Amino acid sequence: MKFIHISDLHLVAPGERVWGFDPLARLDACLADIAAHHGDASFCAISGDLAERGEVSAYKALKERLERFPLPVYLALGNHDDRETFFDVFGDAPRDDDGYAQTAAVHDGYSILSIDTLKGPPSSAGLYGEDRRKWLRRRLDDAGESPVLVFMHHPPFDIGHDLMDRIKLEDGEGFHGLFAGRNIKHMFFGHAHRAMSGQWRGIPFTGVPSLAHQLPLAGGAVPTVYSDEPPMYAVVLVEQDRTVVHFDAFLNRKPAQMDPEAERGTWS
Ligand SMILES: [Fe+2]
Repeated sequence: MKFIHISDLHLVAPGERVWGFDPLARLDACLADIAAHHGDASFCAISGDLAERGEVSAYKALKERLERFPLPVYLALGNHDDRETFFDVFGDAPRDDDGYAQTAAVHDGYSILSIDTLKGPPSSAGLYGEDRRKWLRRRLDDAGESPVLVFMHHPPFDIGHDLMDRIKLEDGEGFHGLFAGRNIKHMFFGHAHRAMSGQWRGIPFTGVPSLAHQLPLAGGAVPTVYSDEPPMYAVVLVEQDRTVVHFDAFLNRKPAQMDPEAERGTWS
């Protein structure tokens, strides 16, 4: 199965910019690239910070675009989102019995669980309390032995970044306990505005960059908190015996300085 992971759109009203970037233009370019090259993907997951300040206009702009996008899309919320405003615009989006933006789906035998870790202002950290955990337990029960793909905004552990580790998901220990004995194939998150992969207590994970501003890995590498580094989306290939995550810097892709016919027919 192939699917797409995007995160941290930070959308504002059409025409507005965030830290010099045009988030809506970035999203348009990203969705067009995916539609052109990965129309065979099963779905696309967007792991939060859909809007920069939870504005109605940002969510409306996103909704308009997703209505024209060929893949099913699962949306999670991040610390920049506003849950009530999101549901005002995305009235048909899945909502659990306690009002959280949590989505369960099945594709090719994989259970897709997109969970809501939005804590709310003034905190930028993530929260996953008992009222949300009970939904996840039920969905994990439903999944049974099936492999599970988890999508969420906040990493539930320290990633080794001084700023980001202050605003990770709270109570990662309790969160990890939810997955004991479960068949978690992979965990996907955003929030860090960086490409990363690894494993947490045996659970493989991937984080993708933002489509707008990024967070420099090394403090002081640029004189500003945020940086201008390539936006990327992830193309994920999952099979029973492997998981492959490709990061595609779609805006920075251009031909090499070579004859278009050079180096063809020699790949054996
Ligand atoms: Fe973000």
